[in-house]
Amino acid sequence: MNKDLLSIKDLSTTQVHDILNTAEHFLDVNQRKIKKVPTLRGRTVVLAFFENSTRTKHSFELAAKRLSADIISFSSSTSSTNKGETLLDTARNLDAMFPDLMVIRHNQSGAPHLLAKHFSWSVLNAGDGINEHPSQALLDMLTLRQRLGCIEGKTVAIVGDIYHSRVARSNIFALTKLGARVVVAGPGTMCSPLLEKMGVEVRHGIDDVIDQVDAVMMLRIQRERLAPGMLPSVIEYAEHFGLNQKRLERMKDTAIVLHPGPINRGVELTSEVAASSKSAILSQVSNGIAIRMAIMYLIMGGQPLEQLRGNP
Ligand code: CP
Repeated sequence: MNKDLLSIKDLSTTQVHDILNTAEHFLDVNQRKIKKVPTLRGRTVVLAFFENSTRTKHSFELAAKRLSADIISFSSSTSSTNKGETLLDTARNLDAMFPDLMVIRHNQSGAPHLLAKHFSWSVLNAGDGINEHPSQALLDMLTLRQRLGCIEGKTVAIVGDIYHSRVARSNIFALTKLGARVVVAGPGTMCSPLLEKMGVEVRHGIDDVIDQVDAVMMLRIQRERLAPGMLPSVIEYAEHFGLNQKRLERMKDTAIVLHPGPINRGVELTSEVAASSKSAILSQVSNGIAIRMAIMYLIMGGQPLEQLRGNP
């Protein structure tokens, strides 16, 4: 693996498969009574979250703990960035504590890249602005592979606020790399004209694609990133793009529903859809721990684990 994981674009197809196969091994570890392996004993992982997170922060933390790493965890609300310290100065001070790896989430696109350039320790991008969220895409690939058997040749729709979604960007890179057909659907104000250049089909409604998909990934409307006028009416949005029971019934029997969370019930999907047998939303969360264990293990120099069933 490379020193850092900043973008899915930087991974070869083989590296993506290595991460997924290694995560399968860690799924087994997570089912054991003692869910801990000594792989990263003596290594120090910094969890630096400058933006809110529930799933990513806690699953990276649990993943590092299950690999026996020492952890420094902070969020912007409790750190000295609140007193005006710059990102680079904060990182210089953490560097003086000899970390081995930093997981960073930041509302500025490119913040993880800046740290990766300046420091020798590994940097994992846990979501940077509207740019990328690579570990989310990898856990989504693991979930798709588990539920559908394979990804190559499958049709996956990504629906909603594509423009502001780092999850959409990372998933487009991962799905096209693994040979899926990708269709994106969202309001015109939330779909960049450049999307077709990324190898995806663009639609402006969900109804003409929902019966074709093997999986649909519903995205949250990112109110915190919307410019005024981009979303005139939430009710109208739900009518055109929301996944409800009627649309769920039009999906193939084997098709599944994904959502990176947090979900807005009644906007991008209804509570009935979230609780349905097609929903893989909580499996995504469980898979997130194994994927993040695999990423940290491989970045820190571990060899891909494919068939091995024992402690790494
Ligand atoms: N999927 C995701 O990034 O969720 P959090 O914002 O809760 O980490």
